[in-house]
Amino acid sequence: MARPLPDILPAPWPADLPAPPVRTDEAVTRAAELLAAGGLVAIPTETVYGLAADALDADAVDRIFAAKGRPASNPLIVHVADTAMARSLAAHWPPMAEQITTRLWPGPVTVIVPRGPRIPDNVTAGGPTVALRCPEHRLTRRLIATLGRPLAAPSANRSMQLSPTTAGHVLEGLGSRVDLILDGGPCGRGIESTVVDCTTDPPRILRPGPITRVELEAAIAGPVVDMMAAEGATSAAARSPGMLPRHYAPKTPLEVSATAAERVAELVQGGKRIAWLTAQIDDPRVRSLAASRDLLVVPMPADPSAFATSLYATLHAIDRRNLDRIIIDAPPDTDAWRAVTDRLSRATTA
Ligand code: TXA
Ligand code: MG
Repeated sequence: MARPLPDILPAPWPADLPAPPVRTDEAVTRAAELLAAGGLVAIPTETVYGLAADALDADAVDRIFAAKGRPASNPLIVHVADTAMARSLAAHWPPMAEQITTRLWPGPVTVIVPRGPRIPDNVTAGGPTVALRCPEHRLTRRLIATLGRPLAAPSANRSMQLSPTTAGHVLEGLGSRVDLILDGGPCGRGIESTVVDCTTDPPRILRPGPITRVELEAAIAGPVVDMMAAEGATSAAARSPGMLPRHYAPKTPLEVSATAAERVAELVQGGKRIAWLTAQIDDPRVRSLAASRDLLVVPMPADPSAFATSLYATLHAIDRRNLDRIIIDAPPDTDAWRAVTDRLSRATTA
């Protein structure tokens, strides 16, 4: 018999309430019970939804890999309620990790540190380091504190697919492969955390994200190396297996263009059905092209954080329309746009 679809439990926690409403707390309790029993629960975070299991239960962690279709060679991020829990999972707590987490946790930055003995092998893909993150989302920190154990959680999508930024995206992508979905609303940041390796000096960014290199350098008052910029994607992937050149991709072929208006005009004239994600909606060129029946012009924010917040949700929505191609204006080449540029390059069809 086919497994039933999971419940989506609404778990709102209005910003002006110091404690969650009773119904939300009941949802957290039910999620904690399922996790304690070795189940899989999709959890909201400020970046993307995670597919969580008890990080100290190797069998539960195996279920994450199976549900995602994720290769066992790609290690998972372990989510903690606070710095004390993080320290308890590390063999050694590097000063860089202390500086970064003191200043930037809770928040969208993951630190790589030497792995402590409590962490099962499958979490780290057998490696000597572990990735730790304390999410900004209060609901998930409360869930971890209620469970009293850390949560291993990759993004709650099938391997190689777009990350989910709403509970609905998780249901669409994973269906009955997950036991319960905790709906904490749309993700505020919208792209995955910055991953920074604190086992080297200077520390290295393995995955650009919402916390920029400039912010990390301010936190440690010293230099931080951007691996992708320094050595290229192949080398970065060798250090962080999730950083494969193709990842985070929508089903519709996607192209980033520095001359998007020309490219869109050419494709539409060639009979293609196009979605164009652009911040230039006031450009007369865009206005005239937008009249075409075969073109969906989607306005995007000009600010990098706001762009990141809506990017995956927009790509999920376009994927449902079965168009021929997505064109996106090439973002500016600045530190603030690094994470967006990185995800777009991985989503690009060769
Ligand atoms: O924002 C996020 O980080 C989200 C939410 C759910 O927290 N999680 C997420 O997980 O993006 P995932 O599994 O989709 O990506 C984790 C990345 C992968 O690129 C993985 O290879 C890398 O972190 N990673 C995990 N452990 C590592 C380790 N010990 N050393 C190097 N890279 C590691
Ligand atoms: Mg992922």
